[in-house]
Amino acid sequence: MGDDPLGRARELLGAAERAVVLTGAGVSAESGVPTFRGSGGLWKRFRPEDLATPEAFARDPRLVWEWYEWRRGLIRGCAPNPAHRAIASWMARGPGVTLVTQNVDDLHERAGREAGPDLDAAPRLLKLHGSIVHARCTRCAHRSRLDEAVDATSEATLPRCPACRSPLRPDVVWFGETLPETVLGAAFEAAARCDVCLVVGTTGAVYPAAAVAHEARSSGAPLIVVDPGPTEYDAVADTRVNAPAGAVLPLIL
Ligand code: OAD
Repeated sequence: MGDDPLGRARELLGAAERAVVLTGAGVSAESGVPTFRGSGGLWKRFRPEDLATPEAFARDPRLVWEWYEWRRGLIRGCAPNPAHRAIASWMARGPGVTLVTQNVDDLHERAGREAGPDLDAAPRLLKLHGSIVHARCTRCAHRSRLDEAVDATSEATLPRCPACRSPLRPDVVWFGETLPETVLGAAFEAAARCDVCLVVGTTGAVYPAAAVAHEARSSGAPLIVVDPGPTEYDAVADTRVNAPAGAVLPLIL
């Protein structure tokens, strides 16, 4: 690794024709959204098996909805930060960028609405772990945006499918569930074709999402990691920028 990581990152990204950006919770940290594994991370305060598994939802759907409603309210009060905006305006200007995110918040989409590129739908934004601002039916194919607050005071007040009256659930991927196949396939395809992969704010601990960057690397693309903490990619990164994303992405994109 050279001693001018910012310069090297700028050079690699400036020359890119097809790039993949893989983001994790760290890209939203400066917006005020908690990460999962750091100090103050959600998984330090809560047990995923109580809140983020199909079994937890079957056991206590009220508690699970309450937790997602709390997170949704928190995200609603946050705004995109300079990292989201730098990515969105780079995508609006430039090369063929596929943005792959593990985040269920909608801050990339909101930055896209400000900067120009429509990130509300694939193929430019691939949301591997779903969306906290959407719900889907536990039985049929219905999916909708959650515009109203969910009333989680009792099981009887939880939202139901307008089509078949079955319970709705948050449209996110829980532990033990498979990722949406077409979204994951598109992410791997973009990774196999890209000439650089920028990894922002993820420990790289959760698979198969983490494998998207490894796929890019094994197809010959250099990895640039932007993260102020250690990640699973550090040993294989071409360039590591040891700083918060909001401070650095506007300088390198
Ligand atoms: P983690 O909490 O594991 O990692 C967050 C990363 O962001 C760490 O490497 C931090 O050092 C870094 N970070 C913190 N502040 C930052 C900043 N300002 N700029 C850049 N980086 C910063 O979160 P993820 O890797 O996203 O899964 O977690 C992956 C998945 O695990 C999540 O999608 C979620 C969770 O369980 C599901 O919900 C299915």
